[in-house]
Amino acid sequence: MRNIFSKSSKKVDEKDLSLDRLPKHIAVIMDGNGRWAKKRGLPRTAGHKAGIEALREVIRTCSEFHIGYLTLYAFSTENWKRPVDEVSALMQLLVYYLRKEVKELHKNNVKIRTIGDISRLPENSLKEINSAVNLTKNNTGLVVNIALNYGGRNEIINGVKEICQKVKDNEIDIEKIDEHYFEEFLYTKGIPDPDMVIRPSGEFRISNFLLWQIAYSEFWFSNIFWPDFNRESLIQAIIDYQKRDRRFGGIK
Ligand code: FPP
Repeated sequence: MRNIFSKSSKKVDEKDLSLDRLPKHIAVIMDGNGRWAKKRGLPRTAGHKAGIEALREVIRTCSEFHIGYLTLYAFSTENWKRPVDEVSALMQLLVYYLRKEVKELHKNNVKIRTIGDISRLPENSLKEINSAVNLTKNNTGLVVNIALNYGGRNEIINGVKEICQKVKDNEIDIEKIDEHYFEEFLYTKGIPDPDMVIRPSGEFRISNFLLWQIAYSEFWFSNIFWPDFNRESLIQAIIDYQKRDRRFGGIK
């Protein structure tokens, strides 16, 4: 039987990738930075720094293969529970990353967007994010959606509240509410649902990520830690995805 952990010693053969059946949208839970660092006797923040290198490679590979959307779980609504120092290091890393990379991303036609309630982020992070979003807003290449202070339940509740208000104000009829209408109230409005969700680090959870949007996503798990995730891992994940039989509840 094939191991569900897809990082095997076998070298990935790019020829196994069908370029005409690539996923349009890949979502990633960048997990395992802390454990990667611990294994090396380093502080957790060193793991997050190394995670940025992996991120760079994944963005480059997605661009190369003309993937439409890449959604990255960078900071959840629950991550505020982490020690203040770690939260602050993550926010600083985000600023550092955007400052350093935004020109290159822009040059490569990447469009930066965020999902989540970014209003709670520190002012300098917010400033950097807004300027990156603004600079890249007309780009037509890979859309990189960074999930910041994002929680799937929170996103759904906010959507419900907005719709309830509209009903209360007699702006819409309850009968008008269907899946399509509801999606207009999500952060991901206008973006196709993820075709696949990648979670490295040996965890098998969804951790409040894109709860609505993943209804028919394919999951890909691996026991490698995020900082070790590279071009080859991504290609392997896509090759595995292409072997899945997606029926969306129907039959073939
Ligand atoms: C999970 O690993 C990772 C995070 C909570 C943060 C991910 C952030 C980055 C890779 C860098 C910043 C992001 C951007 C977009 C510039 P963990 O800390 O939970 O690892 P562990 O489970 O091993 O402790």
